Amino acid sequence: MAHLTLERDGHVAIVTMNRPEARNAWSLELMARMADAWDTIDGDPEIRAAVFTGAGGNFCAGADLKLMHADQSDNPWHKRFKDDPDLHWRAMLRSRRLAKPLIAAVEGYALGGGTEILQCTDIRVAAESAVFGLTEAALGLFPLGGSTVRLQRQIPRTVALEMLLTGRRVSAQEALSWGLVGRVVPEGQALETARQIAQQIAANGPVAVQAIKKSVYESADLDEAEGLALELAIGGPVFKTRDAREGPKAFAERRKPVFEGR
Ligand code: COA
Repeated sequence: MAHLTLERDGHVAIVTMNRPEARNAWSLELMARMADAWDTIDGDPEIRAAVFTGAGGNFCAGADLKLMHADQSDNPWHKRFKDDPDLHWRAMLRSRRLAKPLIAAVEGYALGGGTEILQCTDIRVAAESAVFGLTEAALGLFPLGGSTVRLQRQIPRTVALEMLLTGRRVSAQEALSWGLVGRVVPEGQALETARQIAQQIAANGPVAVQAIKKSVYESADLDEAEGLALELAIGGPVFKTRDAREGPKAFAERRKPVFEGR
């Protein structure tokens, strides 16, 4: 069985880390397939939103600690990483941001890289029993997925530092209270809730959706005047698209809009 799968459900892609026997820890295959999944999502106009989840009741236990210092040169996936040094950073969404919305559905453990990549998702749904944590320091490692930079931009710095420096596991309710996740749902419901959110997004105008996401991220570190100028540059052209005609037309005709993504 492939270590990561991408299924389509209409305009929604469901990306599932699929190594449950290792709590979906990242093998070379899993990481290469993650990088490929991101390419597919952004490259295929039929996909308008994606859900990212893990198989077997857990999100992800991060880097494969057993393979970390092993010689993997005979692994068939090794050559791709050797030939493309940025591959693992793209896989972890460290050196790329998806143009399309990515919704995390977390059940069970999201530790180390599991909590790191969570920070690269746009909308996050967790089951009540989900457990988060940046365990790297406790392992003598560094959270190189970007957490020392991103986490303090997403949750209060004191909480970010507590997570980073203690490595302690935090509950879904704690994560919700800090805004690390946006929703907590009953156990077993994370994927379905994330799928519903993705479907709602996928029913919207894709050009508008991607422009809104771009404007939010690209204006995040600007002052207000610069941010508003950028918003105008990104959002203005949306009004010139066919979809921007279709939405108001459908409203006037009392029907659902049919968006083409242009
Ligand atoms: N790398 C490699 N293997 C891992 C792994 C990881 N990050 N996380 C779990 N596994 C493996 C275990 O070694 C075990 O394999 P085995 O059955 O061959 O012994 C299997 O997955 C199940 O793990 P286990 O610890 O028995 O399950 P659990 O449900 O009791 O605990 C975790 C799950 C995730 C809490 C625990 O495995 C853990 O703490 N993993 C490390 C997570 C971490 O700190 N990651 C950061 C990496 S930088």
